This record gives sequence, structure tokens and C-alpha cells, in this order.
Amino acid sequence: MERLDKRLANTGRWSRREIRELIRAGRVCVDGRVVRSPEEKCASTSTFQVDGMVVAGEAVVYLMLHKPAGLVSSTEDPRQPTVFSLLPEHLRRAGLFPAGRLDKDTEGLLLLTNDGLLAHSLLSPRRHVDKTYFVRVDGVLDEGDAAAFEAGLTLADGYTCLPAGLELLEASDTAVITLREGKYHQIKRMLAQRGKPVIYLKRLTMGPLKLDPSLGPGEWRPLTGEEISALRGGSP
Ligand code: URA
Repeated sequence: MERLDKRLANTGRWSRREIRELIRAGRVCVDGRVVRSPEEKCASTSTFQVDGMVVAGEAVVYLMLHKPAGLVSSTEDPRQPTVFSLLPEHLRRAGLFPAGRLDKDTEGLLLLTNDGLLAHSLLSPRRHVDKTYFVRVDGVLDEGDAAAFEAGLTLADGYTCLPAGLELLEASDTAVITLREGKYHQIKRMLAQRGKPVIYLKRLTMGPLKLDPSLGPGEWRPLTGEEISALRGGSP
């Protein structure tokens, strides 16, 4: 059960204030009955009408954001600006959340959606969706690091990571890392174990989704239909 004002807010069509006014003015029906309390609890199967017109369920939204450094990727934070400050008002009201967070100082691909099922299946530890990151460290990366990643590195807290990829690039302080899981500060902690602290980190891909090179830091765009069906595992 969920509050009526929240359910209507999730459609992204009205502000909370507008919704309260619509409800108080008797313009909203739930399951065919006028309801004048924004707090009214509604079932997931309830239907809604505003001014006699049926309001379809929440609009499902999928956005690709090129996260800049300096913003946190949580939905709300009392002290720091979040990535949602980059979105226009109506999308801030669409019930979006990040599918897989990035640290405040990490840049790159962030998927924002209100499709809980898709996010859950992407993040499920059992699905092992590959994520790739470009990394620059304070130090020189070598084959020993790649072998340690491949073998499954044990972190300072005793957790042994799944085998991960570390592809050396031409600049010896850079690499592309492939993770199949997403533990807190994982890459930073893995490279700290190797004595090579991360100085720059950017997510490039998440499963079939690639950061669009035309998006600058702070820019976003809706996913294409092809990207959405690829994320769903090929089914449209
Ligand atoms: N690993 C990290 O350490 N930070 C991130 O933001 C993502 C992966």
C-alpha cells in the first residue's frame, strides 16, 4: 500500500503541491471514488482518474547519465548535492534511482531508472553483470597486478573478490578494469591492496550499456529502445 500523493507523484506529471491541490479540490478518484486525503493508502492494483481521465501507471524512465565528479549518486542527501540536481524538475519527480552507485569522486556511466525489476536483475549478485572502468593510479601497473586481479584479490577486511580483469594500457599508470560484482569502494580497495592508490576512476560500461562518448560530464539522455532491450537480455 502506498500514499495517494506519492503514487500520483511517481507519474512525474504534477508537483507534490499541485497533487495536494487536485486531491483537496475533489478532482481525483481512486477506484472510481473521489478521495480528498493525500495520505489515503492505495493498493498496487488501484486505478486513478484526474478530472475524469484515467491516469496510467508510472511512466517508466531510463536515463544514461555521464556522472561528473563531485556529486553523490544517492537519491537524497541532506548535506551534499546529488546527481538528481542535474535533471529537470519533472524527472526529479519520476521516482528515479541509480542502478548501481558510483563514489562521489568517480565519473562515468550511471543508469537512472524507476524500473525496479530491471535494476534488481542488473545488480543481482547472481547475474554477475560485467562493469568496466578506466583507472589511473599513483604508481605503475604491471602483469603482477593483472594476475592478482585474475586470481581473486583478498581485501583488507578479508573478503576475496571474484576474479576480475585488469587490462594494461599504454600509459603505465592506467588500465581498464572489469568487475563482475560491486562491493563498496571495490576498485579503490583492490588497488590499495596492490599499493597503488586510485587517483582517477571512470565507469565505461555496464553489461551491454556503453557510456555515450557524445555525453560530457553532467550530461544525460534517455536510453534508446535498443539499449533498453539489450539490458533486458534481448527481449523488447
Ligand atoms: N569502485 C570504486 O572504488 N568506486 C566506484 O565508484 C566504483 C567502483
